[in-house]
Amino acid sequence: MAGLNQETNGHSPAVDYFQSNPRPLVLERHCSVAQAFINHHAKLGRRVALVTSGGTTVPLENQTVRFVDNFSAGTRGATSAEYFISEGYAVIFLHRQFSLLPYSRHYSHTTNCFLDYMIPNDAGAVVVESEYQSEMAKVLARYMKAKEENMLLLLPFTTVNEYLWHLRDLATLMQPLGSNALFYLAAAVSDFFVPANRMVEHKIQSSEEFNAQVANGEDAEQPAAHMDGQKLVIGLEPVPKFLKTLVDEWAPDAMIVSFKLETDPSLLAKKARHALEKYSHHLVIGNMLNTRKWEVLFVSIGGGEKWIRVPAGRRTKSVTGRFEDIVDNAAPREPAVEIESLIVPDVARMHTELSQSRESNLDNE
Ligand code: PMT
Repeated sequence: MAGLNQETNGHSPAVDYFQSNPRPLVLERHCSVAQAFINHHAKLGRRVALVTSGGTTVPLENQTVRFVDNFSAGTRGATSAEYFISEGYAVIFLHRQFSLLPYSRHYSHTTNCFLDYMIPNDAGAVVVESEYQSEMAKVLARYMKAKEENMLLLLPFTTVNEYLWHLRDLATLMQPLGSNALFYLAAAVSDFFVPANRMVEHKIQSSEEFNAQVANGEDAEQPAAHMDGQKLVIGLEPVPKFLKTLVDEWAPDAMIVSFKLETDPSLLAKKARHALEKYSHHLVIGNMLNTRKWEVLFVSIGGGEKWIRVPAGRRTKSVTGRFEDIVDNAAPREPAVEIESLIVPDVARMHTELSQSRESNLDNE
């Protein structure tokens, strides 16, 4: 919420944020590969999607031992990225380091170790077990095609600070793409953090004899995380909301899609609508923690509210008519199809319509 009511000293909170929190060292290198990637696809007139994925962390110490994390395995982002590539988009995949990745997600983070897919053959070479051959051949073919055509750029982040700097700089680099740019913000971004000037340098000591810590910086206040007797007290500050700044300043011509995660079903539609009105972007996709693989709610300016649900399979309907997560432990906990295979083509269609309406508005001017 970079609105007027939040402005301080004539700056928006977003501007203040970047003045007082350090630029990650890796950003320059990431921006240089991103610039080459964007230039390549811009020349081909291709649409480029920035897909954010996974949760951001909030370190409590500069030399980080403890941190606060945000929930997200990266399934939504990694799965969506594959479908965007199938739709012809080049994808910049800004993801939490070590979270799920497009293509490899089919074989990582599962109860199977990757070695369980392998077997030695009679000649002593390692091959894929016959039961996995056909599925793996399909995934491999799609992965190799994406690689050959340079359709996927992987950029990792860990902390909320790294995420925000990347979002700002990548959005700026993508500006020349105009309406060919799409932002699909599936990452779970921290709402609270420890500002740089309230961060302790070293590991917070739990024993009273060693816990005299001071914050970094000349204007240092009390460290945001500190010991009070035997208690660890953590006073986090709000992260400025960057969606408004993204919409108004960093990516004014792009299509912007954000996600809203809730756990209380009575709040989902209200909060998604509220986000859309507050940030004035194009689409909010609402999802519930427990049913996010089975149903999502599209809330858009022109399209009102629309549920997208996986076809009947492993779902149950509650008395309210809403779909509920399957709680029967004997039943598979995966839906019949990946819901992203329904979400992404719809987003791509909305993106096409938005670009066309912009072009016709320009023609009429
Ligand atoms: O990865 P999975 O396990 O599959 O889970 C996927 C998911 C549930 C995490 C994903 O589908 C999802 O809902 N992601 C968004 C969750 C979230 O963080 O919502 P939020 O209410 O904190 O943020 C809403 C929007 O505001 C986001 O687009 C975010 O980019 C933006 N935001 C958030 C914080 C902040 N300081 N500034 C922002 O602009």
